[in-house]
Amino acid sequence: MKRFLTVLGLLAVIGVMTGLVSYSVTIYRLFCAVTGAGGTTQRVDADTAKPIAREVTVFFNTDVAPGLPWRFVPAQASVKVHLGEQVLVYFEAENLSDQDIIGHATFNVTPDKAGIYFKKIQCFCFTEEKLEAHKKVEMPVTFFVDPRMASDRGTADVDQITLSYTFFRSARPAGAEDLARFGDVPDAKAGAALFASQCSGCHAPEEAKAGPPLAGVVGRAAGSVSGYPYSVALAQSGLIWTETTLDHWLAGPQTLVPGALMPMNVSDAAARRNIIAYLKTLSTQAQHADSTPPAKP
Ligand code: HEC
Repeated sequence: MKRFLTVLGLLAVIGVMTGLVSYSVTIYRLFCAVTGAGGTTQRVDADTAKPIAREVTVFFNTDVAPGLPWRFVPAQASVKVHLGEQVLVYFEAENLSDQDIIGHATFNVTPDKAGIYFKKIQCFCFTEEKLEAHKKVEMPVTFFVDPRMASDRGTADVDQITLSYTFFRSARPAGAEDLARFGDVPDAKAGAALFASQCSGCHAPEEAKAGPPLAGVVGRAAGSVSGYPYSVALAQSGLIWTETTLDHWLAGPQTLVPGALMPMNVSDAAARRNIIAYLKTLSTQAQHADSTPPAKP
């Protein structure tokens, strides 16, 4: 009798398991949405964490599902971030067809175990997104990696994280938002014109004026051009100039670095992006100049 009951019990367990398996996809998704397991990421309203010294490199990966005539690429291959540091990155999407199309992005983080620490504040992946025929946009994603990852022994070996997005044609297009809200791809030419009118009074690419020379500024440490008399605040800020830090600097130098001496700011976000796109062209020129092989005798 006892054995019969055990068998009955086992059968019941098997029955429940089979039932679970057929629902498992849904349950797994729900589970992931709640816990962030399986490489899904967390959505939060703001970064309240204090940045810490440990760094990870975040790589970006994009895909378009068959049947969606979009081009979809990351604007940067990777970024190096301190845990807790809020970062702004961009992705470009272009509708290659003659029709407005609504898409939906899914995302995933590898290694899986880093997923619960990957927190997104702003992302096009939260909603259904409309892209007009032949329209090209640049979409921002704001994220940070939770510093609590540093105290998890399971993630002690993680120094690289890959964030992947796949865009699908939307199955539920109702209520889609328009990707046009993000504006156009930044325009280095427009940035050059803004630079000429707003910055060139104090900055030139190669020589110091009232401000330091800016060729090669993207990627270099703040306050690091030798011979230029920086404020102590900027020289000791420990910042590296990236798209994110430059954006914050131009929005409000003294908010980013209290005690910094640059007496102006650019309040328009699109103008800042265009100027930064222009500054990036200055760095490539400088790098090209550096990497030019010496002339053969
Ligand atoms: C009125 C003069 C002035 C104008 C206009 C000005 N800057 Fe500056 N800028 C400075 C000074 C001075 C510093 C150094 C600040 C310090 O040492 O704290 C600086 C520093 C910088 C730095 C940091 C460079 C480094 O080596 O760390 C960047 C980047 C920068 N400016 C970009 C810009 C851009 C882009 C514009 C135009 C939108 C602009 N600035 C307009 C005076 C100016």
